[in-house]
Amino acid sequence: MALIERQIKPDNTAVAQALVQLINAGGKLLRPAYCLLFSQFKATDRQKMIALAAAVETLHTATLVHDDIIDRATTRRGQPTISATFGPDVAVYAGDYLFVVCFKLLANYASSLRSVQQDGTSMERILNGELKQMATRYNTAITIDQYLTQVSGKTGQLFALSCFIGAYEGGNTWQFAKQAETIGMDIGIAFQLLDDILDYTSTPKTMGKPVHEDLRQGVYSAPLILAMSEHRTEFQQLLAKGNEMSADDIDQVLALISHYDGIGAARSMAKNHTAAALKGLATLPATPARTALEALTRQLLTREA
Ligand code: IPE
Ligand code: IPE
Ligand code: MG
Ligand code: MG
Repeated sequence: MALIERQIKPDNTAVAQALVQLINAGGKLLRPAYCLLFSQFKATDRQKMIALAAAVETLHTATLVHDDIIDRATTRRGQPTISATFGPDVAVYAGDYLFVVCFKLLANYASSLRSVQQDGTSMERILNGELKQMATRYNTAITIDQYLTQVSGKTGQLFALSCFIGAYEGGNTWQFAKQAETIGMDIGIAFQLLDDILDYTSTPKTMGKPVHEDLRQGVYSAPLILAMSEHRTEFQQLLAKGNEMSADDIDQVLALISHYDGIGAARSMAKNHTAAALKGLATLPATPARTALEALTRQLLTREA
């Protein structure tokens, strides 16, 4: 985090202040954790790997800053979002600045151009995931496969990239790094499924960000899609109110999701993706790094925030 903070030097104090505050607001640092753990299968240059882990965290933070503009979110990591405090203009620049920091770190520390190419491809896929999500907003006919495609892009990719960079830049073979990438994809999908479950079951205080906002914005996620699949008409009139949904309407949707066990169905999907990731991890050399990766991946399934 100190390393990221040292890179933040835009010619605008408001942008700099906002970014430093967000970076120190206590994110879970999961993507850099996966990056570092995957690098530990070989004796590596620790300083380089910390810089590359900082690069993936910076990329993640950039997407969050822009995501909060798009999602009109007012809090992130328990603090007001940059867009809420300084307006969307500053937030666009602040996010852009973080993309720059990410590229500078990669350019300075990556040993292989292939890592930079991989980063470019991942960013493109993240964007495509977000664009697909935007294209299905307020669409009650959205299928679970469409949702999974969106999630693989918007969240899976960054976990996959973090694992890939850690493995490859850590000195492992291309084949090993590609395996790490596949494992990262399953971890990322399970992570987003859990996040979407918590959006229905948790509170803004615990999450440090708004909940139920997806519903109003027409972003339908696994618990709702799975509950709705055979009972579309029951949901449709409530969801049709979109941004105008009252607290009571939201409660009614939540009750329907609970009645049709959308949460249970989404949880079992998350379990399947975690199991796939653990199966992949089990094929890697038995080292302390593998044990730590397995423990972290299992733990994510039971997280409450
Ligand atoms: C939030 O990611 C965005 C999603 C993919 C759901 P995290 O929950 O990892 O965010 P921080 O970094 O811990 O705040
Ligand atoms: C997170 O999107 C993924 C990206 C930022 C690309 P979400 O909108 O689903 O995540 P939260 O709930 O705001 O963290
Ligand atoms: Mg979003
Ligand atoms: Mg969001």
